[in-house]
Amino acid sequence: MKRADISAYGIPQDVIACVEAPDVGAAEGGPIGPDEVVFDVLAFPINPADIGFCTGGYRLRPPLPATPGAECVGRVIAVGDEINHVRAGDLVINLQRENWAQRRRVRGADAVPLPAGIDIKQAAMVRINPPTALLLLSDFVTLAPGEWVIQNVANSAVGRLVIMLARRQGLRTLNVVRRESLFGELAALGADACIVDGDDLPARARDATGGVNIRLGLDAVSGAATGRLAACVADEGHVVTYGSMSGEDPKVDRSNFVYRGVNLGGFMLGRHMARRDAAAIRAIYSELGGDIAAGRLHAPVDCIYPIEEIKAAVAHAQQGGRNGKILVTPNGAI
Ligand SMILES: NC(=O)c1ccc[n+]([C@@H]2O[C@H](COP(=O)([O-])OP(=O)(O)OC[C@H]3O[C@@H](n4cnc5c(N)ncnc54)[C@H](OP(=O)(O)O)[C@@H]3O)[C@@H](O)[C@H]2O)c1
Repeated sequence: MKRADISAYGIPQDVIACVEAPDVGAAEGGPIGPDEVVFDVLAFPINPADIGFCTGGYRLRPPLPATPGAECVGRVIAVGDEINHVRAGDLVINLQRENWAQRRRVRGADAVPLPAGIDIKQAAMVRINPPTALLLLSDFVTLAPGEWVIQNVANSAVGRLVIMLARRQGLRTLNVVRRESLFGELAALGADACIVDGDDLPARARDATGGVNIRLGLDAVSGAATGRLAACVADEGHVVTYGSMSGEDPKVDRSNFVYRGVNLGGFMLGRHMARRDAAAIRAIYSELGGDIAAGRLHAPVDCIYPIEEIKAAVAHAQQGGRNGKILVTPNGAI
């Protein structure tokens, strides 16, 4: 069985390699336990958090060698006697990590079924970004239809999902990107307005929206970009920081807090999912899986690599200006 392991924390393409590992499948890995599910990994994306895992900058830093991989989609090949929510042949996502491998053996509760006809590439990206976009819009401020949300990294997978979900909820999005050439593409997804990031962001935000009060700002750039979003939201508004593509900590002028009552909060999917019980989590994935299977939610894919080319794949994933995610298909073409 092939697996992608890091041997040290460092430059991702230097420290990762495709290695031979013991097969965790039913035949060689021992008898399957009553509460276990074994599946072949069909595809996984390379997310910013996976890059952070390889560099050692992520919150999880397990002993080495270690296997990255926050998400994947797999096809079930065997289930234990007590498993009745999935069976061989079903597509599943895995709620646990270490998914950059050809095969996984997991606890039953961690294998969440997806609709049968779902596109495999989209299915590989169900676990993290769609619920992140959904909960960013629901867990901080209750917005009324017609209200605006401002977000940066609007061209990211999360940003695009925010645009699509906000539109379906009757909300309007003001989308901050790094280049004007994206405006048309994001408008086609449902973006109400797009602006390029920069020092005069508040003035451009006012021009784009007619000066409405914006009560929610979503930030995944961090550094000075968080401060620029804070300057765009209304007094008593909320800025939620959920990523740091700049690699910096948020820098926000204290006058936003003291004089204007702006709230700065943080989001982590695992923390917000942990507030929900297993039934609520399954309901979220069932709804999102249905939307993705029906084509109502989607994220672009730039390029697909085999697991043997994991070094090239992680190098590509770190390049700006991509036209979507980098995916890896460990068991051949999909
Ligand atoms: N907290 C959580 O639970 C959670 C969950 C999911 C994702 N996230 C975070 O959400 C963010 C987006 O993730 P994703 O998977 O959607 O990303 P993605 O699809 O891989 O896209 C990355 C985006 O980051 C932008 N970018 C890269 N470097 C940048 C910089 N220095 N300044 C400004 N923008 C920059 C890129 O802009 P261009 O298009 O211009 O190249 C691109 O739009 C990441 O920070 C990720 O860690 C957090």
